[in-house]
Amino acid sequence: MAKSKSIEHVAIIMDGNGRWAAERAHRRVWGHIRGSNVVNDIVEAADEMGCKALTLYAFSTENFSRPQEEITTLFRLLKKFIKRERKRVMEKNLRFKIIGDISALPEDTQKLISSLERDSMVNKGMWLNFAFSYGGRVEIIDAINSFIEKNPGEQITEESFAANLYNPEAGDVDLMIRTGGDQRISNFLLWQVAYGELYFTPNKWPEFTKEEFYQIFEKVSGRERRFGSVAADLDYDQTSAQAKLNKELLK
Ligand code: IPE
Ligand code: IPE
Ligand code: MG
Repeated sequence: MAKSKSIEHVAIIMDGNGRWAAERAHRRVWGHIRGSNVVNDIVEAADEMGCKALTLYAFSTENFSRPQEEITTLFRLLKKFIKRERKRVMEKNLRFKIIGDISALPEDTQKLISSLERDSMVNKGMWLNFAFSYGGRVEIIDAINSFIEKNPGEQITEESFAANLYNPEAGDVDLMIRTGGDQRISNFLLWQVAYGELYFTPNKWPEFTKEEFYQIFEKVSGRERRFGSVAADLDYDQTSAQAKLNKELLK
């Protein structure tokens, strides 16, 4: 029988900021600023839907190849978000975590991150993970190296590997949404998404809304997740013509 599992971990590739701005004859950074204002709504929506973790892709390891001005804007927006949302994270009982290599960020931002991570660790609500300076392949390599360091000479298993990911408590991804119309994973949570449902929307991140999030959630909740198994087979008459044909074919 196919297993059903509720949607506990949602991951979002927040894409399309640059194109959204260009369509409105604005510079790309404007799209990032407008996009950053959408984040809070979607955090709220995921929390309302009872998610255990929401992981937002904000800056990939590959995004370092963008113009310096754009990179600086994205760094600033992260800092602003952490300062602005600190109170709300605590009020909403969220656990905040950055996944990725934050050593490239300015020192004051690193301090803000560590402080919010530490303070929100006592909370019991939804995990809010920000993937920043994040790469799925690097996360896999880091998990293996961290395992080897702790257990030299031992064989790694799926469980021990998963326990060494950046946020093991977030678990597998149940639903991955990408805004902006492209249908690819772009190096996001490669291990965790193995059996995740994928949903691609043409809407760009700055125009993404809570309502669309709820609709996607509803649609995907109705999908059958088979995890490699099968749906219940049709009951059929073993003496029927079809049964005879099947027996013939299996000879
Ligand atoms: C997503 O929007 C945000 C980041 C990757 C940081 P983009 O900046 O990729 O916008 P498009 O895809 O070029 O429109
Ligand atoms: C993915 O978007 C990364 C983030 C949303 C942070 P990109 O715009 O960088 O991805 P590609 O280049 O279209 O694959
Ligand atoms: Mg993009």
